[in-house]
Amino acid sequence: MSDSPTAPSSSSVPPPADRAGALPRRVAVTGAHGKLGRAVVTHLRAIGLDVLAIDRDPAGDPRDVPGEFVVADLTDYGQVVEAFGGGVDEHDAVDAVVHLAAIPAPGMTTNAATFANNSAATYNVFAAARALGITTLVWASSETVLGLPFDTPPPYAPVDEEYAPRPESTYSLNKALEEDLARHFCRWQPALVAVGLRFSNVMDVEDYAQFPSFDADPQLRRWNLWGYIDARDGAQAVEKALAHDVPGADVFVIANADTVMSRSSASLMAEVYPDVPLTKELGEHETLLGIDKARRVLGYEPRHSWRDHVG
Ligand SMILES: NC(=O)c1ccc[n+]([C@@H]2O[C@H](COP(=O)([O-])OP(=O)(O)OC[C@H]3O[C@@H](n4cnc5c(N)ncnc54)[C@H](O)[C@@H]3O)[C@@H](O)[C@H]2O)c1
Repeated sequence: MSDSPTAPSSSSVPPPADRAGALPRRVAVTGAHGKLGRAVVTHLRAIGLDVLAIDRDPAGDPRDVPGEFVVADLTDYGQVVEAFGGGVDEHDAVDAVVHLAAIPAPGMTTNAATFANNSAATYNVFAAARALGITTLVWASSETVLGLPFDTPPPYAPVDEEYAPRPESTYSLNKALEEDLARHFCRWQPALVAVGLRFSNVMDVEDYAQFPSFDADPQLRRWNLWGYIDARDGAQAVEKALAHDVPGADVFVIANADTVMSRSSASLMAEVYPDVPLTKELGEHETLLGIDKARRVLGYEPRHSWRDHVG
């Protein structure tokens, strides 16, 4: 099977020798005040990266926030160029971008407002990176492009990156278009490494207390095949993606290694999706959002499980 439409477009271009597998020095993280953004900023700073946190939500006086932070609205191209390029007083230019800012789900505001914010923000981030010569770009795609909420069953399970996006909402449509956008920006700028992380449903440790309640009804979390991503493992995936050194656009499903359920993954599929073929023998609680590609290509390996926090 061929890869998704965002498969590497210029794999013949060798990575710059001075960056092979190495992390960038200074990174902008957009959406820094969000659920995932907070974990990513904390993680990248903990491993020694110089992080410029960016969000349109000031969450207080940015001068009081520990660590470097700039308020910017990414739907304004000028603000993005200024923020990434060292144009804002007291904030130097960055050499990599992690773009997480978005309205993060369908139905939070009108479809048109979701599309307008998310598409403009992502276009501006990609275009500003190009204008500034930034060649390391990691952005948040979404599990939704796999066909959530799976009212139409998936073609097989575990789902993976091998079939074309199946957006079922405006939010997801925009994420699918962003994957195309990345592919074309890579065509225009052959040195660009653009990694899209199709995150599952982001969870903080506090969220795990509700997990046992999911067991009563397998339909409750059917919509994403009972998947989740611990925000700290999401941050680890961002770190791995920043070290990826193969020019071109590529996408990866990022989930935890297990499901949110106590029952076996095989029994869930047999009850809820009896006609969906399984492509492998499943471990007891093995994720149905396939992370084999992320493991193989990025070296991503989830370190956390809700089972370590509840019970
Ligand atoms: N939360 C999930 O379950 C989930 C799942 C898959 C993918 N994602 C994606 O991961 C990313 C982060 O999600 P999250 O859960 O942390 O969301 P969040 O809402 O907690 O954080 C998003 C942040 O982006 C900021 N933002 C939005 N539009 C902006 C703009 N125009 N300019 C500047 N800042 C802007 C918001 O102020 C907010 O702080 C998003 O791209 C989302 O689509 C999230």
